[in-house]
Amino acid sequence: MEAKPTTISYVETTNMVLPNDTNTMGHLFGGQLLKWLDMNCAISAGRHANRICVTAAVNNVSFDVPIKLGDLVIIKSHVSRTFHTSLEVWADVWTENQASRKLTKCNSAIYTFVAVGADGKPTEIPAVIPVTDEEKERYEGALRRRQLRLVLAGKMKPEEATELRSIFPR
Ligand SMILES: CC(C)(COP(=O)(O)OP(=O)(O)OC[C@H]1O[C@@H](n2cnc3c(N)ncnc32)[C@H](O)[C@@H]1OP(=O)(O)O)[C@@H](O)C(=O)NCCC(=O)NCCS
Repeated sequence: MEAKPTTISYVETTNMVLPNDTNTMGHLFGGQLLKWLDMNCAISAGRHANRICVTAAVNNVSFDVPIKLGDLVIIKSHVSRTFHTSLEVWADVWTENQASRKLTKCNSAIYTFVAVGADGKPTEIPAVIPVTDEEKERYEGALRRRQLRLVLAGKMKPEEATELRSIFPR
C-alpha cells in the first residue's frame, strides 16, 4: 500500500564548538560542520521515510562566515521534496554567540538521501506537501537541482534534463 503524503516537519539540533572541532585559527573545521549537517539531515530524511536513509550526495554547501570556538551552531533541516526512492533535505545553519545570544545565519546546505530496505536496496517513500511560501519555493526548485546533480554524476543525459534546460535562454 502506498504511504500517504505528509506535510513538512523540521529537525533542529544545537552543538557547541569545542577546541577539538577547530583549526589553528580557532574556527570550526568545515568537515565537522558537514558531519553535524549529515546527522541532522539524516534524521529529517529517516523520520519522513520511516526507514533507514543513506547519504547519496552532498550539494550546495558553502562556508560563508567563520564559526568561532565557543559558538553554538544551530542546524534546522527539513525534507524539501521526495522523488521515488530519493529525497532532498535542506538545512539552514546559524551561529549563536553565547554571551550576546546574537544569531547569525551562516549557510545553507542541500543533501540527497536514498531510503533503503533491510536488503540495502532503494525503496519507495511518501511524498511531502509544502505549505509555506519558502517550502513551496524549495519544492519547486528541487526538480532542477535533482537534474543538475544527476547530470553532474553522469546518471542523466543533459538532453533529458528538461526542467534544468528550461531556465536557460535559447
Ligand atoms: C545511494 C544508493 C543506495 C543508490 O543505489 P543505486 O543502486 O545507485 O540506486 P539507483 O541508481 O536505483 O538510484 C536510486 C535513487 O538514488 C538516486 N541517486 C543515485 N545516485 C545519486 C547521486 N549521485 N545524486 C543524487 N541522487 C542519486 C537516483 O536518482 C534514484 O532516485 P529516485 O529513485 O528518487 O529516482 C547506493 O549508491 C549506495 O548505497 N551508496 C552508498 C551510500 C552511503 O554509504 N552513504 C554514506 C553513509 S550513510
